[in-house]
Amino acid sequence: MTELQQSRPESVTVRALNLSDLPQVLAIERRSFATPWSVAMFVLEMSKPSGISLAAIRHGRLAGYVICSRYDNAFHIMDIAVDPGDRRSGVASALLAAIIARAGDDASYTLEVRLSNSGAIALYERYGFRGVGRRPRYYADNGEDAMIMWRTTGRPWEGA
Ligand SMILES: CC(C)(COP(=O)(O)OP(=O)(O)OC[C@H]1O[C@@H](n2cnc3c(N)ncnc32)[C@H](O)[C@@H]1OP(=O)(O)O)[C@@H](O)C(=O)NCCC(=O)NCCS
Repeated sequence: MTELQQSRPESVTVRALNLSDLPQVLAIERRSFATPWSVAMFVLEMSKPSGISLAAIRHGRLAGYVICSRYDNAFHIMDIAVDPGDRRSGVASALLAAIIARAGDDASYTLEVRLSNSGAIALYERYGFRGVGRRPRYYADNGEDAMIMWRTTGRPWEGA
């Protein structure tokens, strides 16, 4: 695997996320979430040796990022966001494809997503994630339930 991974070759490249990217990451995070992560949360997640943190570059600037942590045998997509002006251009798709390429197509992946976030759910379903349950009132800001999604070649409740 090379450091630079080409996805939609005409527009998006993916590379490792660096601490020096954090100003742009925080700006996108604040535009994307009602309860954005703090800089300390990014630093903590990015410091985990088994995690995978990637940046997507489009038109020469950081357009999106993904933070993925490994717990036991499963990779947990902790945070993914794309700058509003770069959405629907394949940026998140490039990031998810790069995570799967690095961690392995046979690995197990999981995430939580708001039930109301139909765009993200459609994206994840396109990458083979399936809803397997709910976490009631998971989101503190509005008490919304989370959908738990898994992408696995086996059964997620076994061995993860
Ligand atoms: C969800 C998010 C990461 C998607 O990023 P993106 O770069 O726009 O996604 P892509 O362009 O790769 O989309 C791939 C496919 O996912 C689906 N999709 C993505 N966003 C969608 C939306 N808003 N509505 C419907 N389908 C959507 C579509 O099938 C899309 O393919 P298409 O554009 O050919 O129709 C982005 O909208 C975002 O940052 N949202 C705010 C943060 C967020 O909700 N993160 C997820 C938290 S769990």
